[in-house]
Amino acid sequence: MANIAAFFFLCLSMSMSSYLQVFLQAMAHEWPGGRSTRFYDFKVQTLRVTKLCNTKEIVTINKMFPGPVVYAQEDDRIIVKVTNETPYNATIHWHGVRQKLSCWFDGPSYITQCPIQAGQTFTYEFTLVKQKGTFFWHAHVSWLRATVYGAIVVYPQTGVPYPFKYPYQEHIVILGEYWLRDVVQLERQVLASGGAAPPADAFTINGHPGPNYNCSRNDIYKIDVVPGKTYLLRLINAGLNMENFFAIANHKLTIVEADAEYTKPFTTDRVMLGPGQTMNVLVTANQPIGKYSMAIGPYMSAQNVAFQNISAVAYFQYLGAVPNSISLPAKLPSFNDNLAVQTVMDGLRSLNPVNVPKEIDTSLFVTVGLNVNKCRSKTPQQNCQGTNNGTMAASMNNISFVKPTISILEAYYKKIGGHFTEDFPGAPLRFYDFVNGAPNNAPNNTQAINGTRTKVLEFGSRVQLIFQDTGTVTTENHPIHLHGYSFYVVGYGTGNFNPQTANFNLVDPPYINTIGVPVGGWAAIRFVADNPGVWFMHCHLDIHQSWGLGAVLIVENGKGEMETLPHPPADLPRC
Ligand code: C2O
Repeated sequence: MANIAAFFFLCLSMSMSSYLQVFLQAMAHEWPGGRSTRFYDFKVQTLRVTKLCNTKEIVTINKMFPGPVVYAQEDDRIIVKVTNETPYNATIHWHGVRQKLSCWFDGPSYITQCPIQAGQTFTYEFTLVKQKGTFFWHAHVSWLRATVYGAIVVYPQTGVPYPFKYPYQEHIVILGEYWLRDVVQLERQVLASGGAAPPADAFTINGHPGPNYNCSRNDIYKIDVVPGKTYLLRLINAGLNMENFFAIANHKLTIVEADAEYTKPFTTDRVMLGPGQTMNVLVTANQPIGKYSMAIGPYMSAQNVAFQNISAVAYFQYLGAVPNSISLPAKLPSFNDNLAVQTVMDGLRSLNPVNVPKEIDTSLFVTVGLNVNKCRSKTPQQNCQGTNNGTMAASMNNISFVKPTISILEAYYKKIGGHFTEDFPGAPLRFYDFVNGAPNNAPNNTQAINGTRTKVLEFGSRVQLIFQDTGTVTTENHPIHLHGYSFYVVGYGTGNFNPQTANFNLVDPPYINTIGVPVGGWAAIRFVADNPGVWFMHCHLDIHQSWGLGAVLIVENGKGEMETLPHPPADLPRC
């Protein structure tokens, strides 16, 4: 009960919502109504910040970095009015929120909406139907997510306890990557070069790089702890292009939730989160009084990719510790410790009884990986800086996803032809040894086909997706995120997927929304397609998304109002 900050924000948002009661009553007939309604005002604004000896303008919400926390309770309705006061295009995605019958408010640009242009407003409205835990929101256009992100904390309904001993306090810990360059320009330049993305200038914890970086001695996040007490840390990886290990010196972490679903308690020395993943861990301050480092460092499973190798450090500081004392360093695994990643994954098991589909109606086999396309530029020096002087791309089943110029949802709903096709293949166009011998000779077989291809799923169908990593350029762990759903991870392994030997867990698989497909391996997920709409499925490493590592699933309407996507909102942005 001691989380004063959370309590304060709950009160704040409640008074805001009562202020809006008259307005809300008019909305009350809309399904799903939600229990109480919480209103937030998000202004997209630039902010001048000085970090790493450099002053620059970053894009933020309400001039906060990280942005404001959205607090709510399970089954609440959330209304966020977003006003864009910057020259950049903006959208906000509510990562992990399943958007039941509210696909219009999901947020990925050119998938469910056109961007909110400079000076424009769009109001997002959705209900947290049967959802609670740690989520986050982030911009879903270009690479704006680098600074436009914040936590969503959804408490259980009043009187419903956590399935573990109540922590003394809760803290939000957001992992990020900071760039000194303008990220919108950076994405453009990287794509134009045909080559790889440069590493971030710093990792951050709640926006702070910590003492290992230049000019950052005072730019450090800190949690003050009382000896003997247990803390709940809500970990969120909002980074752009890197997966990260997280550890606290001399302290154990007990995972109790992953992607906003409870897990069986699993105790470990460190965790790994890919961008798009969230995790709640319990930490008990049971060590001698002192100052301990809380650190994040890189997990890089690919070959020949440059990355930031300086860890971001925050402090986990005991009451009574000498303030200027040296902090004990946290032990992070080495950057390529695949076993450490697997150990965490093995530990994720659903706490509550699961509802895994046992029979499957639609089974898709989807390769995920990078490509090198032939240089088509007259100025190869400038535009073909990829492997073997080609241009880098990425794909699912060798289709490199191209975003259309209007939103796919709008085109689908209004039957406007010519913006997408419905022929995303259910299996790769060519089968080969996907992972062994990687990196393969790139020019031979890694050309990808461009397309805006979707896969249409019948309402209620039981779907299985097998993701298979490829090594055509380099094998790599890809954090694949599906919008509109959580899914059961029924299996994963290394090598090529083999149905004869694959072991599936139908008993207590984790129910998550972003799966790190193991480097040079595969992962199998299952879900029931019971939420109509247009849902993006993509790698949450932004550089891979920019290169085309994604596809779209269209789930058709079922029968009746409760299985049908409502009309679009009147203020839906136009392209
Ligand atoms: Cu958090 Cu489409 O992403």
